[in-house]
Amino acid sequence: MRTVRDIPILENIPVLVRAALNVPVEAGNVMNDYRLRRALPTIRYLARRGARVILISHIGEAGTETLAPVAEALGKLVPNVSFFGETIGPRVRDAVRTLTPGHILVLENLRRNRGEKMNDPAFAHELAALADAFVEDSFDTCHRAHASIVGVPKLLPSYAGLQLEEEVQELTAARKPKSPSLAVIGGAKFETKEAVLTTLLATYDHVFVGGALANDFLKASGQEVGKSLVGDADATGLQKVLDNPKLVLPVDSIVIPASVALAPAARAHARITGVRDVHPDEVILDHGSGTMALLAELAHGTKSILWNGPLGNYENGFTEATDAFARAVALSGAHSCVGGGDTIASIERLGLLSKFSFVSTGGGAMLDFLAKGTLPGIEALDNNVI
Ligand code: 3PG
Repeated sequence: MRTVRDIPILENIPVLVRAALNVPVEAGNVMNDYRLRRALPTIRYLARRGARVILISHIGEAGTETLAPVAEALGKLVPNVSFFGETIGPRVRDAVRTLTPGHILVLENLRRNRGEKMNDPAFAHELAALADAFVEDSFDTCHRAHASIVGVPKLLPSYAGLQLEEEVQELTAARKPKSPSLAVIGGAKFETKEAVLTTLLATYDHVFVGGALANDFLKASGQEVGKSLVGDADATGLQKVLDNPKLVLPVDSIVIPASVALAPAARAHARITGVRDVHPDEVILDHGSGTMALLAELAHGTKSILWNGPLGNYENGFTEATDAFARAVALSGAHSCVGGGDTIASIERLGLLSKFSFVSTGGGAMLDFLAKGTLPGIEALDNNVI
């Protein structure tokens, strides 16, 4: 894979960078700048060599949000950042023409244009017309066949950014773990995790399934899960994973009555129970101390740990299992690789991020990469012959 280091000339060259600027914003303020800090090595590399840096990104799912506050937050981390409230068109081309070497121009949310998600070639052409070279540094969206991810590399000499390069190196290594190894997959919906679980069960010694994802397996193995969140998975796929002796499931749960509103205050109504003793009118929201002890034991003495997805209902304050596992990994001394927005937020809240060997900026992208060893956005760079 060619990287930014292979771009022959940068001085005064307009370079289009697909960055990961999809960060949480509330009331016009960036609430967490972790992804922005991770974007800095590539931005600095280009700016210090005199490139005219054009940053493109999406923010939010729907295309309604603006990148204006993100550009402001980025401007606190690196000098010479400006924002332009459009993504393509003659005014953007003018703004790029007047951009001076080493300056950084953030364009408006790509998803404001329907052409982004539709991978419209006309939209990709408009983006490509802004620059002489393209840099892909948004690992988190490389699993999406969008115009800025797979369309632009067909039109410009294209290179991986430093963040993308590191993600590919680390996650390629995580696909071949050193034994003894432990993979932990949380979150929800087996149907979105079947491929990665199948790959991990072939390469890891133990694969623990937690969070609401575990409910799908508990239900398929005939346990009562009450009114807990379950996916729409096909029973045959679930059974195949259940039959694998490397699969580890939670042994106990923290539950609340379904009649109690789901909110942090619901914790007062919680009880801990074995997984076989959940009542039909209860909701499973976290794992209990028995499961945490089991996980700590699995993490202890392990050489490689891979983790994606929270283990409890994180949004509503059921963070005990996630926090306990984060501490267990931090103490384990294993090579640890973690990813997923909520998982990273929990670890960051505990001040333990630096204890992890690698933190992936991808959620879905990390899972897809682990399953397949590549992603559409990476293939687009591999196929770039310009
Ligand atoms: C993420 O936050 O996982 C990425 O930025 C991808 O966002 P998306 O799921 O809206 O494509």
